[in-house]
Parts: sequence; structure tokens; C-alpha cells
Amino acid sequence: MKLTLPEAERLLATTTTDPRLIVHALNVRGCLEAFARHFGQPPEEVERWGAVGYLHDYDYQRFPSEHLAHTEVELRAEGVEEADIRAILSHGWMLVNDVTPQTDLEKSLYCADELSGLVWATALMRPSGISDLEPRSVVKKFKDKKFAAKCSRDVIRRSEELLGLELAEAIAICIDGMRPYAGRTGLLPRPAADSEKHHLTQQERENMTIKYQGKETETSAANVAAFLEENGVAANEAVIELDGEIVAANAAAGTLLHNGAELNAFRIVSGG
Ligand SMILES: [Fe+2]
Repeated sequence: MKLTLPEAERLLATTTTDPRLIVHALNVRGCLEAFARHFGQPPEEVERWGAVGYLHDYDYQRFPSEHLAHTEVELRAEGVEEADIRAILSHGWMLVNDVTPQTDLEKSLYCADELSGLVWATALMRPSGISDLEPRSVVKKFKDKKFAAKCSRDVIRRSEELLGLELAEAIAICIDGMRPYAGRTGLLPRPAADSEKHHLTQQERENMTIKYQGKETETSAANVAAFLEENGVAANEAVIELDGEIVAANAAAGTLLHNGAELNAFRIVSGG
């Protein structure tokens, strides 16, 4: 049976709970839907490409160091079609296996896996999110090797060659595909911080406890930047989750902390 979205969602939910991986799955899904439209695919194929994109890191949370070694047999047992399994396996080409991307779907997945991470990280840094993000801003970040360093520039270059697309063209497709999911991937425009509302007295600040990486942590840091610095996290390489919302640490640097805030910090990743 050809992979459908409900089926991909059901299968990924059996293996994956990490919110960063779900965001990555949504990003890749959006990109693949846009690539399918770019290649003139009919609506049912647009759904199938999106479903393959959503499911592509099926085994990554359970087996990060044996990525894609636990995908083929399990998905076959679930009744996923061979062409869809092959497409998923081919995103590990030259990384964890030698399954060469051959079809447009496979080449698009190979590209989207890395490029979506770069587009996402670029959009996260902006107050307006992905709403008015231009390809040229992402091209600039592509050239800055220190930015989202884990998004492999080599893989992105290789995938453009496979697809026969210019970098800016591939980026435009990804932006277009990722926009509809902005609400679930942390890329909506952010309202200007209402800092007055949360101003604390010095006394209140000295008695403040927040939950950091799941642990009660005392701090007198006024804002996210000061707290991260206290805890040795480089803001330009991190994404934070503050009270359930995922944003780039840079963009949230000036956000004030309050007693009982829940903060998690992650390095920027592009998934598996
Ligand atoms: Fe991935």
C-alpha cells in the first residue's frame, strides 16, 4: 500500500516523542510536498511524498548510532510499499549506507533532510519567522559555515547536483513548503516582547527558581541570555524551549525570566 499521511503519522508516533524530531519531520514533510508540486505531481502523490518525508527518521530516536538499520524490516512488516521504504533508506546515502537517491522523490528527500534544517534555523532567528523569509537570507547563512554547523553544506551541494537545481531555487521550494507548518514548528511571527509586564524587583529575582532541563534551578538572571551564559550555553548555537514554545536562543535573548519558568536548551540540529 502506498504510504498515506495518517499512516505515516501513526507509524512515527510509535517510535518518536522528541519534539525536535517531530518539528524536523514536519519541516521535511512540508519541503517534500513543495518538491512534489514543483515536479508536477498529482495531489495523491503530493500526499505520498509528504508522508515519506514525515516518516523518514522512523528509527532515529531509538537508534541514533544505527540510523536506518532498523527501518526496512519493520516498515515492511507494517505493510509499507517497497518504493517508499527505498526512498526513506536513500536519505542515508554516503552517510550510513550506499542506497543512491534515484527518483525525484529520493533526491528531494536527500536535499530536504539537510536544507530544511538550515531554512528552519534561519527563520527561527527572525522576529517575523518564516512569514517573509527570502531565499537570499538563507543563502547568506549557507555561506556562514559556523551558523547551524550541523547542517551539512556538502550534502546540500550534492543534493542540488542530483536535482539539477540552484541553491536559491531549492531554498525557495523549501520555504514555500515549510510555511503552512509554521504554527507547529515555532516559525510564526513573534509579537514584540512586553517586557514591562514581567519586570521583577531585585528581591524577587534573587528568590527565583526556574526549571532548567527538567531540574529546579535557582537563578537571579534577568533574562534568557544571562541565564544561558551562567550555564555555559552559546546562544548563537542553541534553540530554547521556554514555557513550551520553541525559539532560537538568539531571538529570545532579551526575554525576561520569571519564577517557575520552564526552560530547555538544545544545540541546533538537523536531525538524522
Ligand atoms: Fe532527517
